[in-house]
Amino acid sequence: MSNTEIAKGIYSVGAVDWDVRDFHGYSTYEGTTYNAFLIVDEKVTLMDTVKSSHRNELLRNIRAIIDPEKIDYIVVNHVEMDHTGCLPEMVELIQPEKIICSPMGQKALIEHFHREDWPFEVVKSGSEISLGKRTIQFIETRMLHWPDSMFSYIKEDGILFSSDAFGQHYASNERFDDEVDMSEVMRQSAKYYANILYLFAPLIKKLLKSVADMNLDIKMIAPDHGIIWRSHIDKIFDAYARWSKNESEEKVLVIYDSMWHSTERMAHAIGRGLNETGVNTSMINLKVHHRSDVMTQVLNAKAVVLGSSTLNNGLLPRMAGFLMYMRGLKPTNKFGASFGSFGWSGESVNLMNSALTDMKIDVIEDGLRLKYVPNDSDLEECVAMGKRIGERVIKSFKTDS
Ligand code: FEO
Repeated sequence: MSNTEIAKGIYSVGAVDWDVRDFHGYSTYEGTTYNAFLIVDEKVTLMDTVKSSHRNELLRNIRAIIDPEKIDYIVVNHVEMDHTGCLPEMVELIQPEKIICSPMGQKALIEHFHREDWPFEVVKSGSEISLGKRTIQFIETRMLHWPDSMFSYIKEDGILFSSDAFGQHYASNERFDDEVDMSEVMRQSAKYYANILYLFAPLIKKLLKSVADMNLDIKMIAPDHGIIWRSHIDKIFDAYARWSKNESEEKVLVIYDSMWHSTERMAHAIGRGLNETGVNTSMINLKVHHRSDVMTQVLNAKAVVLGSSTLNNGLLPRMAGFLMYMRGLKPTNKFGASFGSFGWSGESVNLMNSALTDMKIDVIEDGLRLKYVPNDSDLEECVAMGKRIGERVIKSFKTDS
């Protein structure tokens, strides 16, 4: 990443991680960036830092503009290690006058780095700090997505530093939304929302409202990952508004794993039944689809139909892992159903139905269990199940409208 001047005296100095492919269980096929910004004012300010592995890139970018020891303030919008991993070294080098963070941020920084002696300056929503020509206004965004998260807004330039919100895991040398493929950026934004922020939908709705009520003149949104929004700010705000309403489309996902293809054949037959109703259907074999891509599809699906063979009185491990992951992200406003083949005990359908019920997903079928290998009439039952689910989904949209 080059040190682009994003506004007069404000530079992007973060790092590009081209190679990362796993972000604690989230697949990052497009890599990511750890964004940090340098504001050259009477008080020179570093807005966030980067993962420890990328500190040299951060330092090189800063040094191309200014001696790091001239930095006065470091702002920590969010303590997660991808943004603070190199903070102890930066503090040692810079000896900043202030480390600016939220009240929860101070607590989390101490719990991470065990340095109560750091020069913390704690700010709350509405607090302002003058840098000279510019003023930073702070907005706490607790639990979006960490307890300490906050936004920093530079009034004079209309730049909202939004921490992880509005970000994407998308590595690029370009810095702005109008320099890259927007369809890819929106795909990555949806994936980011579905895998990091999904469970916080009620808080996001409130945040969008309070940002609108503050009437900020936002000219740029600079998240901690991916590109900076300047030409498509409405597009990302609209997408967040839509996603946080948990609205779904006439779309059904058949998500399955299979031992000896019996459950797979059931899945395909259910898919045929769904197709016959005209509902948009995606077939998702967990052997080949990563859980975080599946969650991106769950975001706007109306129904999830789960299939797993029974293994050792339980679920196939990919399905068990996926359900644990999905449960944490708390999808809402969905129908669910389950199916699977079995040999002698056959618990999988009940286990999947229980998991759906725990997630408050409306289980609309008792579930279909078939012994060993399905015959033609068994597969007809699967087709019929698919048809019933498709018709129920279509009807729900007629009822809603
Ligand atoms: Fe990008 Fe929550 O760290």
